[in-house]
Amino acid sequence: MLSAALHGVSAERFTVTLEPSDSAPVIHPEIYGQFAEHLGSCIYGGIWVGEGSGIPNTKGYRNDVLQAFRDLKIPVLRWPGGCFADEYHWTDGIGPRENRPRMVNNNWGGTVEDNSFGTHEFFDLCELIGTEPYLSGNVGSGTVEELAKWVEYITAEDGPMAKKRKENGREKPWKLKYLGVGNESWGCGGHFTPEHYANEYRRYQTYCRNFGDNRLYRIASGASDYDWRWTDVLMKNAGRHMDGISLHYYTVKGWNGSKGSATEFDDDTYSWTLGKAVEIDSVITRHSAIMDKYDPARRVGLLVDEWGTWWDVEPGTIPGHLYQQNTMRDAMVAALSLNIFHNHTDRVRMANIAQIANVLQAMVLTRDAEMVLTPTYHVFRMYIPHQGARLIPLEVVGPDARDSKGRRYPLLGATASEKDGKVTVSLANTSLSEKAEVEIPLGSIKAAKVSGEILTSADIHDLNDFDAPDKVKPVPFKDARISKGTLTVKLPPISIVTLTLD
Ligand code: AHR
Repeated sequence: MLSAALHGVSAERFTVTLEPSDSAPVIHPEIYGQFAEHLGSCIYGGIWVGEGSGIPNTKGYRNDVLQAFRDLKIPVLRWPGGCFADEYHWTDGIGPRENRPRMVNNNWGGTVEDNSFGTHEFFDLCELIGTEPYLSGNVGSGTVEELAKWVEYITAEDGPMAKKRKENGREKPWKLKYLGVGNESWGCGGHFTPEHYANEYRRYQTYCRNFGDNRLYRIASGASDYDWRWTDVLMKNAGRHMDGISLHYYTVKGWNGSKGSATEFDDDTYSWTLGKAVEIDSVITRHSAIMDKYDPARRVGLLVDEWGTWWDVEPGTIPGHLYQQNTMRDAMVAALSLNIFHNHTDRVRMANIAQIANVLQAMVLTRDAEMVLTPTYHVFRMYIPHQGARLIPLEVVGPDARDSKGRRYPLLGATASEKDGKVTVSLANTSLSEKAEVEIPLGSIKAAKVSGEILTSADIHDLNDFDAPDKVKPVPFKDARISKGTLTVKLPPISIVTLTLD
């Protein structure tokens, strides 16, 4: 049930107290990471169409999607899975495309792929959009030798793997920082016990070498949701051999049966969605506390390398392709989740929303030559100023809401940061019916001007589709003013705003 306050008539009032501090942490840009899996039309069709395609492309990558990704300033991109990673054999995806073997994507609908998008295509994509690559290595069905040689192929100046790479057209080694050793190794990545996986992790990471001046950041396959034991055993048995450990958390009803429609939901389901989404806060806190037992200095990062909403696929699409629509509800989940990651910068060093195109809570949806930007895309774009900015801790005083399970979630989501003398404040009014009036005393922050953008819609179900690609899009925001050292903001229901103070 939505709280009674949601159905009142007057605007809700909030005060946000900002507490700027030079010792506050800097928000890791990598929290704005993305994830691209060989799944449905994420890679094939969504990003890669091949050079011979009638869809306008640059070296096989769709031009519209490339531009959308560039505009998003994506700091890091995880590839090739996901569950796919543990069945992927990288040697199938190098060399002349016409000679590459075809493969069955067993995890995702049994689709046959031609391996035309492989290592070179991925690294070239990262260069084209200015993003750091994050490789997910095959532990489940691969070998130590296979993963070790992949690292050598990519990063060595010289030697047999470098020779092969050069023969395939890439003279200079690439840089590879982020290396995942398996994915969901407790499940699709091999159904390991944590004890067994910890041993395998130690073995694999030993042979993934630093060539030249390349330095790997080695990431162990971590827990999902509430699996505290996985984190505990891994940290105890292998913590000192890793730089990061992953965490997967989806806003999903459950793993069996219907997950609910992406587009048709009632107020209670909306409320449940936000309650479930913000529960990631306590999940991170608890995994982090377990990590503290073995790593009190917080050297090891917690990387939320899969997160987002997971609904039923769009009617008429292939169930194994996980193609779902994206409404203002998803935009709210994005905003509230990013706010939470900001508050955990001491442990959460990266997050990768699932996924970048045509899968789950996507940034872009494509249909043949058409593309739409989703409401979630717009949130990521509006939040760019927070990347690499110093967090401004804050407190919100005002009403909040509870979902049907009693989980508290904010009626006003808020986060703030400062970079290059500019303060950015992002606010989300999650109420379906009430305006929010927000007062923010600026204290020591010297600002005379405020400007901003708003993403809002009359109906939480609103979305962008190929017939109406711009139904939900940010527009300039006028309802903020600074007077006598206080910023006052009036937000309509269902709105997300980012303000810049000068
Ligand atoms: O993102 C879709 C899938 O969700 C990934 O392949 C897997 O890691 C997770 O279960």
